[in-house]
Amino acid sequence: MTDSAYEPTRHFCDRVLARFGVTTEYYDPLIGAGIKDLLRPETSVVFTEAPGSLTFEMQDIPAITAAAHAGGAKVVIDNTWATALYFNPFRYGVDVVVEATTKYVAGHSDVLMGVALAEGNLGQHLYSTAKMLGLCCGADELYLAQRGLRTMALRLQRSGESGLTLAAWLAERPEVARILHPAMPGDPGHALWQRDFTGTCGLFAMLLHPVPKPALAAFYDGLQLFGIGASWGGYESLIVPANVAPIRSAVPWTEQGPLIRLHAGLEDADDLIADLAAGFERMAAKR
Ligand SMILES: Cc1ncc(COP(=O)(O)O)c(C=O)c1O
Repeated sequence: MTDSAYEPTRHFCDRVLARFGVTTEYYDPLIGAGIKDLLRPETSVVFTEAPGSLTFEMQDIPAITAAAHAGGAKVVIDNTWATALYFNPFRYGVDVVVEATTKYVAGHSDVLMGVALAEGNLGQHLYSTAKMLGLCCGADELYLAQRGLRTMALRLQRSGESGLTLAAWLAERPEVARILHPAMPGDPGHALWQRDFTGTCGLFAMLLHPVPKPALAAFYDGLQLFGIGASWGGYESLIVPANVAPIRSAVPWTEQGPLIRLHAGLEDADDLIADLAAGFERMAAKR
């Protein structure tokens, strides 16, 4: 499993699958074809996520799928960031695609739902297993997700554009050490993103220079449009502190400054920038 996986996915492996005798080894998200050196005879799945949760590293998915298949393993991807609209993992050899339709598909922060997709025999196998486990979805969730699909392309486009506008503005701020966003030119994952993806959603992160805690709290506390919250992909903008060090084992996280994840919602980008600018003013006043 990629070291940059969504935290609960990691916990599922360490805390649930481990009880069933399944071991998980975490790999550097930048590993690419080098994944072949980690494959063991008993390796059944390589779990990818591109870009990574919180830190947004891109992965070379075709290189990973080629190596995994040569070693007899299947490849799963969490494709929630790109969605099916901006990255089609099946075209790149991925066997199973999972996506939290809670996010851009439903799009209004009022649905909890996910999908797992596979083609051919694997799809049949997945379907019958899900059925036997009794997994099904409520009618309300299905209705809202289907309705969300009607406007998803436009919402995703708007969120992605606003995210890039915010990222470009933030990149120029003296408080910001680095923007983590593969669709930004200069990002270490930009070339892979350009090669394989056809668009960007509005989720990215910024690393701040180290700042005293009260000043950081002042930044967060007065925000008017950015809610503090985890479940992105809806209509509203969100911001959340990201504590990465405890959930990395293959590649230790050594940055000293605070990492902040942002989601650009459907508000006016200029209003969002004004909200963040006022936050930096409060931060400066508390230093
Ligand atoms: C990358 C990614 N995958 C999956 C999920 C799971 O979403 P949920 O359980 O809210 O449907 C999230 C939620 O934050 C996520 O960020």
